[in-house]
Amino acid sequence: MIKELPNIAVLGATGVVGREILKVLTENNTPYKSIKFLASARSAGSKIEFKGQEYTVIETTPEVFDGIDIVLASAGGSTSLKYAPEAAKRGCVFIDNSSAFRMEKDVPLVIAGVNDEDLRKHNGIIANPNCSTSQLMLVLKPLHDYAKIKRMIVSTYQAVSGAGLKAINELKESTPVILSGGKYEPVAFKKQIAFNVIPQIDSFVENGYTKEEMKVTNETRKILHLEPDTPISCTAVRVPVFNGHSEAVTIQFEKELTPEKARELLENAWGVEVVDNPDEYEYPTPALASGKNPVYAGRIRKDIALDNAISLFCVADNLRIGAALNTVRLAEKVIEMGLY
Ligand SMILES: NC(=O)c1ccc[n+]([C@@H]2O[C@H](COP(=O)([O-])OP(=O)(O)OC[C@H]3O[C@@H](n4cnc5c(N)ncnc54)[C@H](OP(=O)(O)O)[C@@H]3O)[C@@H](O)[C@H]2O)c1
Repeated sequence: MIKELPNIAVLGATGVVGREILKVLTENNTPYKSIKFLASARSAGSKIEFKGQEYTVIETTPEVFDGIDIVLASAGGSTSLKYAPEAAKRGCVFIDNSSAFRMEKDVPLVIAGVNDEDLRKHNGIIANPNCSTSQLMLVLKPLHDYAKIKRMIVSTYQAVSGAGLKAINELKESTPVILSGGKYEPVAFKKQIAFNVIPQIDSFVENGYTKEEMKVTNETRKILHLEPDTPISCTAVRVPVFNGHSEAVTIQFEKELTPEKARELLENAWGVEVVDNPDEYEYPTPALASGKNPVYAGRIRKDIALDNAISLFCVADNLRIGAALNTVRLAEKVIEMGLY
């Protein structure tokens, strides 16, 4: 039996990620029967223009989820903690961008095209991975399928857009002030972001890593179904780039994987584009990736410090694959697979 198209709601529709979700829904022409836009009381009553029509933003309450099939949520962890169970109770599939449920056993953590089958296990909530994990999964999956990951070391160079609108504005405003010799008191970050890099994203945990770094470790293990003790170490750094996260990755495999084979696997991988011709100065950069859907991979080489290891550099638009694009793709998978 073919299911009726779903009634969908975008929760956090007025935010940075929410607005990107609206763009992707339009570009993809994602099918639905009806659509609603939800936010807090602050924006309730304001207008949103979507596909040439004007919609009124609705205040989020538990009852608003009655009759909704799929929720695309990006309204922060506490909002998700409050409303995801309410939505699930009312029969919705709640696709959540926050970190609130990612490591819960009965919540699938999914990158579309990587572990779609995990979606079948949902109990009303599906989690979208952290932005740094997300882009890496599309690159790692084909390499892991071929040679099995043994260990991994990642360093991230993360754009300010990942920290929301306040952070974007701080880089914009502080750059000319510092360039002309002035002083700027940081608010969105703990340190000056213009002409600087900050080796802290999120708060520190007991082992000396940050929460952001441990998300990469734990989420990678969950999505790729690795052993719970597979060694994965991450250093996450904020850089003065507006949009597009970069990652330097070294992956050791169980069996040999040559750079040529890795390049071939990635050239044939869904969602990945290889840009790897250093002689012609061709390699991925955030300026290349911003506003685009693929994860770009390059600088693919045999690592000289570890056996059976490859080093590479990958870059993607963190607001797209790291948030909005994967959220919409997950909704599309849920529709395709009839999981609502
Ligand atoms: N920025 C990124 O790259 C990124 C990447 C992955 C995941 N995320 C996650 O996505 C979420 C949103 O991030 P963002 O950067 O888009 O934040 P943002 O720009 O601050 O937007 C937050 C959105 O949530 C709504 N909201 C806040 N409190 C609410 C409440 N109590 N009830 C209903 N709606 C509420 C806001 O509505 P009002 O207009 O009414 O305030 C707004 O629409 C966060 O969980 C973040 O961790 C962000």
